[in-house]
Amino acid sequence: MAVSSSVEGVRQKDYRFRCIACGELSDAAGQDFRCGKCGDLLEIAYPAWKDALPDATTLKSLWKSRKLSSHPADLSGIWRFRDLLPAMEDETHVITLREGNTPLYELPQCARISGVPRLFAKHQGMNPTGSFKDAGMTVAATFARRAGFRWVACASTGNTSASMAAYAARGGMRGLVLVPEGKISWSKLSQALDYGAVTCQLRTDFDGCLRLLQDLVRQAPVYQLNSINPFRLEGQKTVAFELLEQLDWNPPDHIIVPGGNLGNSSAIGKALLEMHELGLISRVPKLSVIQAEGANALVRTLREAGGKRLISVQAETRATAIRIGNPASWKKAAHVLETTGGACEQVSEVEIAQAKAEIGAEGIGCEPASAVTLAGLKKLVKQGFVKPGDSVVLVLTGNLLKDPDFTIEFHRGEMPGGEGNAGLAALRHPPIVLDASLEAVIRTLDRFN
Ligand code: F0G
Repeated sequence: MAVSSSVEGVRQKDYRFRCIACGELSDAAGQDFRCGKCGDLLEIAYPAWKDALPDATTLKSLWKSRKLSSHPADLSGIWRFRDLLPAMEDETHVITLREGNTPLYELPQCARISGVPRLFAKHQGMNPTGSFKDAGMTVAATFARRAGFRWVACASTGNTSASMAAYAARGGMRGLVLVPEGKISWSKLSQALDYGAVTCQLRTDFDGCLRLLQDLVRQAPVYQLNSINPFRLEGQKTVAFELLEQLDWNPPDHIIVPGGNLGNSSAIGKALLEMHELGLISRVPKLSVIQAEGANALVRTLREAGGKRLISVQAETRATAIRIGNPASWKKAAHVLETTGGACEQVSEVEIAQAKAEIGAEGIGCEPASAVTLAGLKKLVKQGFVKPGDSVVLVLTGNLLKDPDFTIEFHRGEMPGGEGNAGLAALRHPPIVLDASLEAVIRTLDRFN
């Protein structure tokens, strides 16, 4: 295999762990990834960056040049940006499925519907296991293996477990998955099984699974790969790097993401602030977070407690990926919303189903949790937060095929809610059962002409 000259040699460890609350810096993190002093979450910081990194123009051309390389670290849309990730001593050690490199699509019909001139979708569902989780998992799994762990583990609403199982398998590690029984889609469950993880369906919800995992990592030598793990968030930052590169480094006015456990919004926000600090972008886009009404912990935390303490909820939504009531990274997300000037909104089940069908009608498709972004955008336009001339990017987090039951129930009209809503009815395309005759098919064609 041709190894590109762009693969640098040894880089010394260049990061430290920083507590998001008290700012304490440390060289090592415990298994729970919490500050030894005050118990809050850790993030990764790069104290020497400003002196050590090339200037913005050089970085941009370095990242572009790696696209011509056939080295596995350069073929990954995540490790291509490794200058802004924790240093690996040897890039040949990365566990990669060639993640990232996801498309940025224009959505002209959805732009018209929502009332903005230019609307894009950054489709993270086009990753190897079908969700944005792969961007963080390649980094966190790589560091888990480097730290010598045999077992990695996660609690999940489905996508994290699918991704972790795949990267554990590729990296020669064992995977332990904890998912709420009966509350994740079969597609996601089947991925974990196929990739060989030990998969436990626990009689609780996601929040219960995550609580149990926190206790487990204190007692057993397993490495947790939930988004509490700051290496996950470092990998997920690259979505923003790649997006800005695709926009020729012209920042959009708004980036909109779904909110569940709130790792993704935290990661994208961190990336935007770092890019600004390093002079890669001239201004910071507003990052907004949208939640399902039935899983609206961050919305309530900001509205009812001024972002000072978490208001947990008993989560319920058909968008099972974000069926989370006690989001771990709420403080990080609240900080990002404040510093980028973004909004936090909630949308109903009917609004989610409608937005999902509207995105699907553009030939793109996504899972329900991703569609909250379009539903939220419509609200933010109505409220005047998104202005008529603003450019907007929706981050679609998961692939349509992640939850086919939702799509089929919607199109068959089997989903409760939205009765009498003509807009919704017009979006339904139920399958038609016919006799296998030419006449029947032609009659059907005529009916739709
Ligand atoms: N969209 C999808 C498709 C997801 O799977 C998730 C989270 C989110 C959005 C929310 O992202 O948690 O970073 O705020 N899924 C996790 C999982 C919780 O276990 O797969 P977040």
